[in-house]
Amino acid sequence: MVTKSFCVLGHRGAMGHAPENTMASFAKAIELQADMTELDIHLSKDGELIVIHDSSVDRTTNGKGLVCDLTLEQIKNLDAGSWFAPEFAGQRVPVLGEVMEFIKGKIDLNVEVKASPQGVYPGIIDRLIEEIERHDMVDSVVVSSFQRPYLHELRRKAPHIKVALLYSKAFDEPWQEAVDQGWDLHPHMSLVDSRLVDEAHARGILVRAWNPNKAEEMRPLIKLGVDGVGTNYPEILQQVWREYHAERGTL
Ligand code: G3P
Ligand code: MG
Repeated sequence: MVTKSFCVLGHRGAMGHAPENTMASFAKAIELQADMTELDIHLSKDGELIVIHDSSVDRTTNGKGLVCDLTLEQIKNLDAGSWFAPEFAGQRVPVLGEVMEFIKGKIDLNVEVKASPQGVYPGIIDRLIEEIERHDMVDSVVVSSFQRPYLHELRRKAPHIKVALLYSKAFDEPWQEAVDQGWDLHPHMSLVDSRLVDEAHARGILVRAWNPNKAEEMRPLIKLGVDGVGTNYPEILQQVWREYHAERGTL
C-alpha cells in the first residue's frame, strides 16, 4: 500500500493519454509513476469481473449491449481502443485478474464496484474478495463504490480489505459514517473543504478527492491536505504537488 503521505491516483489508468480501463491505460499510469490506479468493474453474464466504466460496452468498444447480457468470450472479441485513437486498435476489455497480474508490485489499485441498470450485481463482492485474495493483493487494494450495500457487504465478509465511500452529493458529517463503518472517503472535489479534511484526519480517515484535470483545480485540494487525488493526468498532479511543496520548502 502507498506509504507516501500523498497518493497520485490515475483515473481509469491514465485516461487522458490512453483508452480508459485498458492495459494501455494502466501501463501509462505506471509509466507516469502514479502511486495507484483506479478502475471500474461490472459483472458479465457468466460471472466474470469485467474492467469497464459503463454498464454497456457501447461507448468504449466497437460492440453493443449491456455487460450483464454478454459473456466473457463475446466481450473479449471487442476492440476497446480504436474509439480513442487508431494506434490503440486491438486493445481488449480486461478482466480484473489480468489487470492484477499486470500491475502487482508496480502500482496500487483502487477497484470501483459499479451497478447494472437493474441495480447492484448479486455476487460481485464475493467474486471480488476471491480475486483480491487469489492475487495476494489485500495490502495494495482499496475498494470503493457509490453503492453502500457493496461496502457494507465487504466490511462484513472481508474486514481486512480497505474500503472507501465514493460520493458526489453533500451530506451531513461524512466522517461520522466513515468512523462507524470503517471506511475512507472519496468525495467529488467540489465537496472537499478544510472541515471535511480536518474532521476526517482527526479520526484517522483518509480523504481522496476526484477528479481534477487542471492544475488550478488540483492546487486547492493539495493545499487543503487531502491524502490523494484522482486524475486523468497524473503528470500534471505530480508537478502541482512538487511546485506547491517546493514553494513552501516542504519537499
Ligand atoms: O474514483 C472516482 C471516479 O472514478 C468516480 O466516477 O464515473 O469516473 O467512475 P467515475
Ligand atoms: Mg470510477
